[in-house]
Amino acid sequence: MSKNLVLYFSVYGTAKNIAEEIGRQVNADVVEIEPVVAYDGNRDHYNALARLAKKEHDENQRPAIKNKISIADYDNIFIGYPMWWYTFPMIIYTLFDEYDFGGKTIIPFNTHMGSSDGGTYKTIKELEPNANVLPGLPIEMNDAETGASAGKNAVKKWLKKLGF
Ligand SMILES: Cc1cc2nc3c(=O)[nH]c(=O)nc-3n(C[C@H](O)[C@H](O)[C@H](O)COP(=O)(O)O)c2cc1C
Repeated sequence: MSKNLVLYFSVYGTAKNIAEEIGRQVNADVVEIEPVVAYDGNRDHYNALARLAKKEHDENQRPAIKNKISIADYDNIFIGYPMWWYTFPMIIYTLFDEYDFGGKTIIPFNTHMGSSDGGTYKTIKELEPNANVLPGLPIEMNDAETGASAGKNAVKKWLKKLGF
């Protein structure tokens, strides 16, 4: 039987909620991509996070990942993140720089407030040409909040369509 892993990065918790939902539905291990320098998850401080994220993006930074992630044992790897400045957070570039997903099946998902996947699924294909990248799932932030059912239902439909 193939082994499933869900990797996610999340600051406000919505991509985390979806990651955990996927984990429950496909019986996957769920692992957070943890930054060395933690981001402020207080939503009242959004402007400061927006500025920091913009700087990381404009300077093409690669924020360091704290935890060592073992991907060798897995066949299917779900990768989830929020949309930040029309692309994925720069720490996701760090992930693709540091880990080789060649021969794996990558299934992306993301939360957003209007940008959908922002072209990031295509970027993943470019960054990991030797991986099999399946159609991803963008979810509106509101639908991914704790207690919301729309995101969970969307996950169920998507996984079924993909044959999980
Ligand atoms: C720094 C920053 C930049 C963002 N940029 C975008 C964006 O370009 N497009 C968009 O649709 N949403 C954008 N958002 C909204 C996030 O995608 C949304 O809040 C996301 O669901 C948060 O995921 P999380 O709860 O897992 O941290 C941005 C949020 C932050 C904090």
